[in-house]
Amino acid sequence: MKITIEAWRQPDADAPGTFETYTLDDATPEMSLLDVLDRLNDHLVADGREPIAFDSDCREGVCGSCGMMVNDRPHGPTPNTPSCRQHLRHFGDITHLKLEPLRAKSFPVIRDLVVDRSALDRVIEAGGHVAVNAGQATDADDHLVDHDTSETALDYAACIGCGACVAACPNGAAHLFTGAKLLHLAALTYGKRERGRRARAITGQMEADFGPCSTYGECATVCPAGIPLDAVAGVNREALRFSFRHKAD
Ligand code: SF4
Ligand code: FES
Repeated sequence: MKITIEAWRQPDADAPGTFETYTLDDATPEMSLLDVLDRLNDHLVADGREPIAFDSDCREGVCGSCGMMVNDRPHGPTPNTPSCRQHLRHFGDITHLKLEPLRAKSFPVIRDLVVDRSALDRVIEAGGHVAVNAGQATDADDHLVDHDTSETALDYAACIGCGACVAACPNGAAHLFTGAKLLHLAALTYGKRERGRRARAITGQMEADFGPCSTYGECATVCPAGIPLDAVAGVNREALRFSFRHKAD
């Protein structure tokens, strides 16, 4: 099958970028977006041209590194699916792909489709972890957390840190991402011990790097992990809980 690809080309962070259009004659419906870029890059290299830089690692929806804008939508036309799992066979009659880096002020472009998402890492560094003495390993049959609670924690832990929610938000907010981290840890026994300190640190760092939330809800419509919109409310709830209690746990 034949597709046209309009790709953002930008040699480095300081250079101006522009779209360049390519035609790929040997695409197949089984190809993912990353396969398409691999094939196009093979042709560009064979022609002595610079390949298109893009991020990828697991290519199975786990690592969150592959995010890009596809036809103006984070990750691509298939809802709630990371770019590496977006396949041409699901695109219907779409034969023109416009590929851009994730568009958000907090994600500066490094090169072509690659952005610097270390602003998300800074949120995790601020509080997306547990730093308490957890003591000895518990007995295997000792259930500290009931099944429903651990399932809830796992649902929020599914966030892969791709940044699509930020790119989808008109304000460039990271509330869905931050809420997923807060609610994941707040549900667990060890996470509860630092709940207040975490809420203060993590929301403060989020506000330093990202925009405010106006509850548009665009974030949840693109999230490949299916993080629900109530994670956004969780950010406010955890911050309020800290401000009323005025203590670190
Ligand atoms: S909340 Fe969803 S869209 Fe946002 S970083 Fe996590 S997985 Fe990606
Ligand atoms: S390459 Fe890992 S989620 Fe897409």
